[in-house]
Amino acid sequence: MQFSAQSNADKPTNSAIGKPMDRTDGRLKVTGAARYAAEFPMKNLAHAVVVRSTIARGRIQSIDTSAAEKSPGVLAVITHLNAPKLATTDPPEVSDRYIKVIPVLQNDRINHYGQHVGLVVAETFEQAEYAATLVRVAYTQERPVLEFAANLDRAYAPERINAGYPTDTQQGDLEQGLSAADVRIDVTYTTPIEHNNPIEPHATIAVWEGDRLTLYNSTQHVDANQTSVASTLRIPKQNVRVVCPYVGGGFGSKVPTREHVILAAIAAKQIGRPVKVVLSRAQMFTCVGHRPHSQQRLRLGAKRDGRLTAFAHESIMETAVFDEFAEQNGVMSRIMYECPNSLVTHRIVPLNLDRSMIMRAPGEAPGSFALESAMDELAYALKIDPIELRVRNEPPRDPESGLPWSSRSLVQCFREGAKRFGWEKRLAEPGSMREGRYLTGYGVASASFPARLRPSSAIVRVLPDGRVQVHTGATDLGTGTYTVLTQVAADALGVPPERVQVEIGDSNFPPTPASGGSFGAASFCTAVQEACIAVRQRLAALARDDANSPLRGANQEAIAAADGRLFTKGQPARGESYVAIMQRHNLAQGVEVRVDSKPDDAAQKFSMHAFGAHFAQVLVDPNTGVIKIPRFLCVIAAGRILNPKTARSQIVGGVVWGISMALHEETLLDARYGNYINGNLGEYHVSVNADIPDIDTVFIEENDPHVNPLGIKGIGEIGIVGAAAAVANAIYHATGKRIRDLPITPDKLL
Ligand code: MOS
Repeated sequence: MQFSAQSNADKPTNSAIGKPMDRTDGRLKVTGAARYAAEFPMKNLAHAVVVRSTIARGRIQSIDTSAAEKSPGVLAVITHLNAPKLATTDPPEVSDRYIKVIPVLQNDRINHYGQHVGLVVAETFEQAEYAATLVRVAYTQERPVLEFAANLDRAYAPERINAGYPTDTQQGDLEQGLSAADVRIDVTYTTPIEHNNPIEPHATIAVWEGDRLTLYNSTQHVDANQTSVASTLRIPKQNVRVVCPYVGGGFGSKVPTREHVILAAIAAKQIGRPVKVVLSRAQMFTCVGHRPHSQQRLRLGAKRDGRLTAFAHESIMETAVFDEFAEQNGVMSRIMYECPNSLVTHRIVPLNLDRSMIMRAPGEAPGSFALESAMDELAYALKIDPIELRVRNEPPRDPESGLPWSSRSLVQCFREGAKRFGWEKRLAEPGSMREGRYLTGYGVASASFPARLRPSSAIVRVLPDGRVQVHTGATDLGTGTYTVLTQVAADALGVPPERVQVEIGDSNFPPTPASGGSFGAASFCTAVQEACIAVRQRLAALARDDANSPLRGANQEAIAAADGRLFTKGQPARGESYVAIMQRHNLAQGVEVRVDSKPDDAAQKFSMHAFGAHFAQVLVDPNTGVIKIPRFLCVIAAGRILNPKTARSQIVGGVVWGISMALHEETLLDARYGNYINGNLGEYHVSVNADIPDIDTVFIEENDPHVNPLGIKGIGEIGIVGAAAAVANAIYHATGKRIRDLPITPDKLL
């Protein structure tokens, strides 16, 4: 997928970074020209539909596929009885859950409602969908374990929680800290199951050419797809190609490779034709992961002046019986506030549900609801302003590791936010403010997210005509990857953004980490910048050593780049264009450099996080309990902002999720059968336009020389972190009612 940037940057081209440049892929997307996984035209394409289990636990006794097989257009019906044998154990070197094997349809065991039990392949989608209804499965049922609240006594400590964090941490003596406190709170919060609902459903087209497989797959990580699929099918990694130029959202659900990708591959092999599988909205509720239930107990103790003496955050959540996973609910609590005596633990309860898995800000999203609500409760108990309470507990260094912050601008975010939001108009007493017939209230909460960097690779090429090509395996979830890579390359090479072509989303390009964990932009951009600098240095070296170049003899450090040419600093006329240098050296292919970028050891020396502050105002109708949010402000300090336009969209999107989490989202389980009652986007409530105000987003300038050479911290997830707590805290301020169980629906206020 190639295109040129359409820049609205009107400043000098050597500072493309920091401009609110329009998305380079925007036109393609709004005109429908951007090609998503299910849209690749394919000759002789067959369509497949998955068949799902209708019980939550047991075994398949028998499957009758005869009617389905005789149905018009049907090409194959694949079940565990005729599926090819796949790898069921991981290669020994595999530690990362995202590159594990995916042994689907390998036995008769049912672990959850909606589990894949078969695949029907037909000439048309409609034929496949109809024939799928004709597959008759008989089960031997076992009693499923379904209810979270009723099974808390089965909770156990997993070895690790998500992202490799330790399960339990402890400092000082909690009991001593609690008895030393003047004020204590002991409160428990619960959050429901929530489901990722990206606009583009999961979709795959599998095509075999001989022993080579190409997958057009909607994914956040082509490289991990390639590894998982190759090891599951027991074929060499280089025989699998994954193509994904555009992704219509994923929110974590498209980081792991899903079972239907393997099903598409084995079906395509079996019938010798390309096969497409697109999951329906209902299917997306049972096979691509969800955020688990949580119960979180917070115990806080503080002196009268607000200083914490004790802090405990104990989380229990549910996990699938067949795939252990624990969100890192307490990791934010480990670093937010100064406290000598602390305890943070995570426990899990195995249930017969579909996988609980990463969903935007896994851990931090539910964890921050509990943490930031509890801090608010403590502020009221102490009669200290909630912002002031946070400021008084600001840690000078990372309380967990003892490392200095690479930068931490939380207090600045609160100060700036308070000014803009008019926080001083808030009357301290809950239930004391009115706007017309509504009760109104203000709430705040802190946000934080780790600023991570992962190894990433890229190829950058300056073509003989001066255009720049960037190739990297990265994906663009709709976040702006194409655009920020264009800006970084334009900046590093000193070329106009219009001259940069970025191609991503193909495992044939150099590997990158996932678009996930908020480390995508930092990791991809670091590699691309490094490659651009290397190309530029190579061209500069050619000129410097060339008697015919105006730059002969010039020091590398004295050479600058802008408008596609190199020149000496302070003497812009002394220079020449990239095109001229390449022409004189007969570089008909241009100049190309591949870089495999690795984070340096800064990670060992600093604690690196983005921080932010949320401000919410709510209006609550005292008669109906209906909640409206007239104003929301989010102030973020996340290092250097590559593009304020795409960055703002990330924060706004995160805040919308946070509001949605606070007021609407909840997947309801039918505890008799293990199915979800509202397991479709029609019944699963999410905030819509009418629920969301014009969200004000502010970025605090932050110069962080430690996080990475570009000084950028991720912003994909921090917007949701704390946003639900800010809403809940505003509701308490408006009504005096503390709702500790999400979502806060009107009935809970009456
Ligand atoms: Mo995010 S849940 O790491 O895509």
